[in-house]
Amino acid sequence: MEKTTSIHGMWSSRLMFVLAAAGSAVGLGNIWRFPYLTSDNGGGAFVLVYLACIAVVGLPILIAEVLIGRRGRMSPINTLRKMAKEYGTSRGWVGIGWLGIVAGVLILSFYSVVGGWTLHYSWLYVKQLFGGAPLGDPSVAFRSLLSDPLELTFWHAVFMLLTTVVVALGVEKGLERAVRFLMPALFVLLLLLVGYGFTTGHMGEAATFLFKPDFSRISGGVFLSAMGQAFFTLSLGMATMMTYGAYLPREGISIPRVVIAVALTDTSVALLAGLAIFPIVIAFGLEPAGGGPGLIFNSLPLAFEAMPLGTMYGLLFFGLLAIAAWTSSISLLEPGTAFLSEKFGLKHRKGSALLLAGVSWAVGLLSVLSLNLWSDVKVPAGVNVLGGKNIMDLIEFLANDLMLPLGGMLIALFAGWALSRTVLREELSEMPEWLFVVLRWTLRIVAPLLVLAVLAHAVI
Ligand code: PFF
Repeated sequence: MEKTTSIHGMWSSRLMFVLAAAGSAVGLGNIWRFPYLTSDNGGGAFVLVYLACIAVVGLPILIAEVLIGRRGRMSPINTLRKMAKEYGTSRGWVGIGWLGIVAGVLILSFYSVVGGWTLHYSWLYVKQLFGGAPLGDPSVAFRSLLSDPLELTFWHAVFMLLTTVVVALGVEKGLERAVRFLMPALFVLLLLLVGYGFTTGHMGEAATFLFKPDFSRISGGVFLSAMGQAFFTLSLGMATMMTYGAYLPREGISIPRVVIAVALTDTSVALLAGLAIFPIVIAFGLEPAGGGPGLIFNSLPLAFEAMPLGTMYGLLFFGLLAIAAWTSSISLLEPGTAFLSEKFGLKHRKGSALLLAGVSWAVGLLSVLSLNLWSDVKVPAGVNVLGGKNIMDLIEFLANDLMLPLGGMLIALFAGWALSRTVLREELSEMPEWLFVVLRWTLRIVAPLLVLAVLAHAVI
């Protein structure tokens, strides 16, 4: 008989689950990564492939993850172990859980470094608000941050500490409180920035860049980046959503419905971020294409400098971005922490969170150094997809573009083949039959094949 509650705690309502899952999904992926990947991968063509990946591969796998989690009620590794035993399938599926924990530690390692950038910028605007010197040329300011390993390490540590505290406190006390107000605030601020975008007179060009696909730009690399981003932005493929699903009550809650709410929120934040950022980029004479990871840090401060009350907007923007990153980073740490505290005892939750965060922080130092002292350490250009990447790029590529899609594919296969039709149907009882059939075959065949095709094309 399956359990109705999790030992780690439960979301207090459906809304809390949606907020927490959307809190996990909405983060640096939407506001920092999506705009710069769009910028680097040819605009509309990338956006189109990205949206297709979300709809065809992302949504079904998101449903699968939450469903497996709710059925198992434990950390991913133990959920899969339990299910494999109960349904008489291979124990090898437990590997999905291990893959997820490793991917989580790797992603958190550089996520926290970039989270640190947002804290640093928030702090710059706080100082400015109290009479400090203005930022000056944003590209100079950004380069000077990246060239300073101590400054980067400091903010990376602060960000990691904030993450650890929330996860150590646990589901009800930590995670829920953090997401309740912050998500709506971020949304409103983005809308204001889009409004500012209209006043620049360049919204039309920005929309063309974002939504008019130039099909000649679509390549294997674009597909891989778009798919990696679809997984990353939905927090998919590393059992995060499985973990959050484990804390989801059963009564009257339809998984497809809540999942669609999460995916819609996530996608609209990414598109809004694009509509907020590109008009500014164009208005200030920057190139929309090829902006790289510095895109928002090089462009938005220009607008904050020019607009009335700009310093306050700057502080609000980077502050809320830091918070959005925070509600995501806690979800990167949660699966591993839940597993360790099942293994060593629930009273060791704090220690478990601290241990994993410590490992991830240490790995993050590699990313910090790759931005300055080790910036020359790169894969030789042109070798293959890896050519020209530094250490931070490599970790990001390995975790986001390879491990997440691979994990997602395995999750789809597990839900489609290892779980019986009856179990799947029980979890999705509200779904019309035709949709259920479509979903099941998407999980069994379509999604895994698409992921495989993209991975194979890019790697070979
Ligand atoms: N979805 C987050 C973002 O877009 O910033 C990043 C993320 C969180 C990825 C949790 C994966 C994950 F498990």
